[in-house]
Amino acid sequence: METKTELNTYKLITFGCQMNLADSGSLRAIMNGHGYYPIEEEWDADIIIINTCSVREKAEERVYGRLGELSQYKRENENKIIAVVGCMAQRLADKILERAPYVDIILGTDQMFELPFLIENGIKTPQVYTEFGIDATRNITPTRDSKYSAYVTISRGCDNFCSYCIVPYVRGRERSYSIDQIINSVNNFVSDGVIEITLLGQNVNSYLNGSIRFPDLLTAIVRETNIKRIRFMTSHPKDMSDHLIEVMSSEYKMMPHIHLPLQSGSDSILEKMGRAYTFAHYLGLVNKLRKSIPNISITTDLIVGFPSETEPDFEKTIEAVNLIKFDSSFMFRYSVRAGTEAARLVDDVPEGEKITRLNTLIKTQKSISFEKNQQEIGRIQSVLADGFSKRGKQYLKGKTGGAKTILFPGNADIIGKVCDVEVTSADSWTLHGNIRNKDG
Ligand code: SAH
Ligand code: SF4
Ligand code: F3S
Repeated sequence: METKTELNTYKLITFGCQMNLADSGSLRAIMNGHGYYPIEEEWDADIIIINTCSVREKAEERVYGRLGELSQYKRENENKIIAVVGCMAQRLADKILERAPYVDIILGTDQMFELPFLIENGIKTPQVYTEFGIDATRNITPTRDSKYSAYVTISRGCDNFCSYCIVPYVRGRERSYSIDQIINSVNNFVSDGVIEITLLGQNVNSYLNGSIRFPDLLTAIVRETNIKRIRFMTSHPKDMSDHLIEVMSSEYKMMPHIHLPLQSGSDSILEKMGRAYTFAHYLGLVNKLRKSIPNISITTDLIVGFPSETEPDFEKTIEAVNLIKFDSSFMFRYSVRAGTEAARLVDDVPEGEKITRLNTLIKTQKSISFEKNQQEIGRIQSVLADGFSKRGKQYLKGKTGGAKTILFPGNADIIGKVCDVEVTSADSWTLHGNIRNKDG
């Protein structure tokens, strides 16, 4: 069998949050710039890259499972390169090499962008680089999955150290990109046909560059670029300012959606989580947001089974969900992360109880999402038609201002346009509708 000596194709597999998707977009752009090209089939790729997530144990187990599957390729072709990058690489380089000694390169969250340089230098023994900070704010125009929407990372890292969370350890201290870099990225995307951007940071509300804060950044993007629709995530309730709410309500380019993780409805659990707000404060924010932006959709993250969470604590989370009526929620079972503050507490809620609580919570949220989505029926929503639905070419898919997925009949010529779509039916996850009007 002929062995290839030149490495030129790669397959990038991404786990984790939008931040990782955005980093994968930057990594792809750098790889492509160095003459590598992405392919679909991993068995055929010269280089396989896994961008990993560490946020819960399950996320890490999935990566180990995937690495196990990849070992066969290495047996078939020892020239193939396997690289593990991102959050889990940052934290568990030694363990990864122990469990998968055939991995060639391990690069942390900031170092992953060095990958093509390392490959070009040649790899004989496993290479591990996990320092923070090097070149992490270099300006790269990432590739993207959608032609019309794009992520723009405005800050990296996190300084909040919520007691359960590994993110500050795997992504380092918070660093904000400069306003010029961000405006420049947005302009590049606009000239490439992008209609909608989502600004990304672990906590966008604490964006700070010189004296420029997040609401100032939003105003600058609205004024200085021709982007049509702007979203952002994630917001921390402790840093949600009146100024931000004012900008969201007064600028029509700002989409009426906020992802505002509550985590728990119990004040004593919130305190142990180190979230720095009470439920009453959170509720006050929700009321302000709904008053200023009447059609706003509010989504959240919730954790059940945090150490010492009692049945009454859990009930408070259920009450909070029933009271606030989130449009949708991401709901998780607490997972111990070694090295975090909470890992010192006894993980005393039995696994079976965590599962029961999670199921109760999911059921509660599902019926609320259904109720909320039913209220959309008859309303006209402004939707960016992003492409065909996975169900086939008779439906287009898009997101409403409130970030809900909507399917509607339409032709290819509508893709990339912002349309008025009347909602005609809805279930807990998806809206259906018909186009009433479309822009030029
Ligand atoms: N920066 C964002 C997202 C962080 S990770 C924020 O602050 O909201 C996304 C979500 O994962 C968190 O909001 C939290 O709900 C959940 N999460 C984080 N660590 C967890 C853990 N150890 N166990 C279970 N869920 C966790
Ligand atoms: Fe984790 Fe808290 Fe930072 Fe979010 S704000 S990334 S939950 S430490
Ligand atoms: Fe995201 Fe997972 Fe890292 S949630 S920041 S990819 S640990």
